[in-house]
Amino acid sequence: MDDLIEAAREAREASYAPYSEYEVGAALRTADGTVFTGCNIENANYSNSLHAEEVALAEAVREGHRSFDAVAVSTSELDGQTPCGMCRQSLTEFCDDDLRVLCDEGEERSEYTLGELLPNTISRDDLE
Ligand code: THU
Ligand code: ZN
Repeated sequence: MDDLIEAAREAREASYAPYSEYEVGAALRTADGTVFTGCNIENANYSNSLHAEEVALAEAVREGHRSFDAVAVSTSELDGQTPCGMCRQSLTEFCDDDLRVLCDEGEERSEYTLGELLPNTISRDDLE
């Protein structure tokens, strides 16, 4: 699991965050062990900014992966930041409640499940 945190840290190096200066990297691991990464990419209009987790998810899905077991997030503050509400919802589309969410705190890391972070949300099951 430390490898996944390390992958998120490396991904953070590509972050484009001139406005917030809050650099974020994410690493998403598929059921078969492949790791996809993403970083935040900001925009001068602010609202078009892409979040690291959604970039990683888009890369993975675009390569045909739809099953995941863990995601790691690392910010330049090493503050253990969790995925925001929007990213939690995006992950819910492809991940079960037991997805492990690892948050970088430098020497330490905090861990949650996606179900803890976003309980009782809408998912495909509700629309079937
Ligand atoms: N950010 C992410 O990349 N992921 C999140 O889930 C939280 C926020 C980015 C967006 C913006 O570039 C910066 O962090 C400050 O909000
Ligand atoms: Zn987000």
